[in-house]
Amino acid sequence: MADAVEALSAGLAALGRQFHEQFEAAPDEAALRALRASVLGKKGELTSLLKLLAQVPPERRKEMGELVNGVKQEVEARFEARREALARAARAAELAAPPLDLTLPGRAPAPRGHLHPITQVRWEVLDIFAQLGFEQAWGPEVELELNNFEKLAFPAEHPAMDMQDTFWVRVGGDDQLRTLLRTHTSNVQSRELSARRPPMAIVSGGAVYRRDDDVTHSPMFHQVEGFLVDEGVSFAHLKGVLTTFARRLYGEAAPVRFRPSYFPFVEPGAEVDVGCVFCDVAAGTRAGCRVCKGTGWLEVLGCGMVHPEVLERCGIDSERFTGFAFGMGIERLAMLRYGIPDIRLLFENHPRFLAQF
Ligand code: DAH
Repeated sequence: MADAVEALSAGLAALGRQFHEQFEAAPDEAALRALRASVLGKKGELTSLLKLLAQVPPERRKEMGELVNGVKQEVEARFEARREALARAARAAELAAPPLDLTLPGRAPAPRGHLHPITQVRWEVLDIFAQLGFEQAWGPEVELELNNFEKLAFPAEHPAMDMQDTFWVRVGGDDQLRTLLRTHTSNVQSRELSARRPPMAIVSGGAVYRRDDDVTHSPMFHQVEGFLVDEGVSFAHLKGVLTTFARRLYGEAAPVRFRPSYFPFVEPGAEVDVGCVFCDVAAGTRAGCRVCKGTGWLEVLGCGMVHPEVLERCGIDSERFTGFAFGMGIERLAMLRYGIPDIRLLFENHPRFLAQF
């Protein structure tokens, strides 16, 4: 019992000596607060001394309790005094520092990013078709052979189906499960024509993959695909819609022409050219134009009347319904629009290149 009195007195005396010095040495308020907690906090030194009070004989408890309280008040008073001194010093340092110069130039805000030119052109194309009443749909990039080729009436010997031209993902085992990276967004045609019934007018955009790699071809690129199927749809509708599209994209005065072409899933098939926007006949720059190669025309998309065989393979009555379809490469549109000579620039994503769009 008497030991407790002694231990408590000794502990309080030691504590009294120690915290004075420590508080005075605290460099800032945060350090000071940490020191105060180490004395008065739940696990603080004074708190653990306080536990000895229970062992002090009752007749001396009041006296010892007052002693503890005295130390506690002293700690608080010292803390407050030091805190004020630190605050005064900080304020004095602030006032002594050079004043804030309001005439200095401001800090430029961090440059804001923007959509990639490919995304901008893709959205622009999809927007034009949305205005013309086309709905949007989606298709996967890893696709069944069935949807990428078969339903689109590709003949078995078509070169696109060759290992050299296409990235096959799964070829062994069950023929029904042969899969590849889609070579065009026309897989959306197979899917939507199989899943819905006419009338329908749909566009879809996304990445496609081919084993091509040079200044104008990349193994991954983007396309927009569209198709419209209903009763009584004719080539005149195709011409009207695609001419309107080309003029909205290239300007109302842009010359547009349709040229016969071949794709297995359309009959007849065509390609659409737009008058070259890079050369000027009057100024005599046509012959030397590198973009249209002196022809005066830029090829912008493939199209045609959906082949009756495609409609039938997708379960649509080709006697009753007809439709047209089209597909275009987004990189090509972007390159033509901005005069970009090398497709790889679009994927290297150098900030100095992208900042121009
Ligand atoms: N799928 C063709 C390609 O990748 C583009 C295309 C041509 C799509 C004609 C069509 C179309 O829907 O009718 O080259």
